[in-house]
Amino acid sequence: MAEEADRIDPWSSRQYEDYDRLLTDFGISRFDLGEYGLKDPSILFRRGVIFGHRDFGSISSAYHEGRRWAVLTGLAPSGKMHFGHKTVVDQVRYFQTLGADIFVAVADLEAWGARGVSLEEGRKMAIEEYILNYIAMGLRPENCQVYFQSLRGEVKDLGYQLSRKVNWSTMKAIYGFDDSTNMSHVQSPLVQVGDILHVQLEKHGGPCPTIVPVGVDQDPHIRLTRDIGSAFRMYSVLGTEKDGIGVFLKGADEDVVEELLSKAKYVLGGIGFSHFKLNVPYKALYVQDATVDDAPRIDIALEPLEVKLGGFGFHPPSSTYNKFMTSLTGEKMSSSKPDSAVFLTDTPEQAKKKLMSAKTGGGVTVEDHKRDGGNPDVCVVYEMLQFHLVEDDAHLEEIYSGCKAGERLCGHCKKEAVELISVFLTDLAEKREEARDRLDEYVRYD
Ligand code: TRP
Ligand code: SF4
Repeated sequence: MAEEADRIDPWSSRQYEDYDRLLTDFGISRFDLGEYGLKDPSILFRRGVIFGHRDFGSISSAYHEGRRWAVLTGLAPSGKMHFGHKTVVDQVRYFQTLGADIFVAVADLEAWGARGVSLEEGRKMAIEEYILNYIAMGLRPENCQVYFQSLRGEVKDLGYQLSRKVNWSTMKAIYGFDDSTNMSHVQSPLVQVGDILHVQLEKHGGPCPTIVPVGVDQDPHIRLTRDIGSAFRMYSVLGTEKDGIGVFLKGADEDVVEELLSKAKYVLGGIGFSHFKLNVPYKALYVQDATVDDAPRIDIALEPLEVKLGGFGFHPPSSTYNKFMTSLTGEKMSSSKPDSAVFLTDTPEQAKKKLMSAKTGGGVTVEDHKRDGGNPDVCVVYEMLQFHLVEDDAHLEEIYSGCKAGERLCGHCKKEAVELISVFLTDLAEKREEARDRLDEYVRYD
C-alpha cells in the first residue's frame, strides 16, 4: 500500500502491507532466521511470516545461554478469534517449546475503554473465544499463566507509576491523540506498558528479556514501552572512545553517586572485569577492559542491582512482527465482521463456504489460468495453506510453482484447503471441550 506511513494507529482498521517500507520508516529490523540458531523453527519462521523484530538478539542470547526469558502476549476480547490471531498463538507455543515463561494478558480494561465491552462480558468472551482455543492449540500449563488486566493490581499500578515518564506531547505524537480523546483511551496504552513490564517484577521472577509477538499495528505500544522501561533505568551503559564501556548514573543525587558507582563496580568485578576508572563528578564508571560486545552483559548484570537498590531494572522488551493475513473481503480481518475471516469456532461447513467464495490469484478463466499461470502471492487460499494448513515445505513449494506454471487450478487448492481446515477445526472443537476442564491450570484471578 503506497499510503503515507507517518504513523501507525493501533485502533484503526487500516491494513499495513508494505513491509519493507515499515521496516525502514519505523526502524524495525528485518527478521533473519539464519542469525539465531533456533531449534526446529515453526512454519511462520521458515516462511517469512515473521518478518521483523526489535532486539530479538536479547531473546536469542538468553535462550542460548540458558537464562530466563518470557513471552507476553495480550488479547482485547471483542468478538471471535480468527486465523489472523492464530499466528500469534502459534508463535507463543513455539517459544514455549524453547523454554520461555508465558504470560497471556486479557485486556479487559482496554476492551472496556476502547470498545465499550463490560468487564464481565470481556472476561467471559476472553475465556470462551480465545483462551479455550489457546489451550486447544496446545499451549502447555507449565510456566504459563493467563491473567486479567482488571484483576492484576501490579499491572494497573505500573500503568500509573510508569506514566510519570511520559508526557502529553509524546502521547499525541505517538498516537495522534487530541483534545477530544477520552482519558480511558489515553490510559489503555499505559496499562499495556504495565502488562509488558510487569513480568519483570520480582514477584514474577525479576528483570528478564521479554518477547512480545505482535502485528505491526501494535508497534507504537512497543516503542512506548521500550522508551519508558529505559527511562526508569538507573544506570545507562554506553561505549566510549578511549575508556571501554561507560556506566553512567542517570539523575542520582550527588551524595549517593559514589556509593552507587562503587556498587556497580563490585557487581561488574563479580563477572570478571578488573580495570575500572571512577569519575564521580561525571557520574561515570569506566570499565576499561570491556569492549562494545560486553555491553549487553554489563547491562544485564546491573539489572538485579537496580532492583536491590529500589529500582525496576527493566530489560527493554523485544518484539516480533508477523504479517497480517488478508481478509476474505478485502478490509482488515475483524473479530466482529463474520465474513472477513475464518473463525476458530466456525464449523467445517462454515469454513468451507468462506473458502470456496474467497478471492484467489487465479486467472479470470481456466484457459487464462492455464496459459498465464496464477499469482499465489495475492491469493487468500494460498495464504491459508502457507500460514496454517500445510506443514510440509516441499509440498507448499509444489503448490506455489504449480500455480505459477498454470498446472495447478484453484479448484484443486480450494479442495485441499477445505479438507485440511475441516480436520483442523473438528479436532480443535474437541480439544476446546477438553480444555474447559483444565482452565484452572492456566487462568489466574489475581
Ligand atoms: N492492545 C492489544 C489488542 O488490541 C491487546 C493487548 C493488551 C496486548 N496488552 C497487550 C498485546 C500486551 C500485546 C501485549 O489486541
Ligand atoms: Fe491460489 Fe491455488 Fe489458484 Fe494459485 S491455483 S491462485 S495458489 S488457489
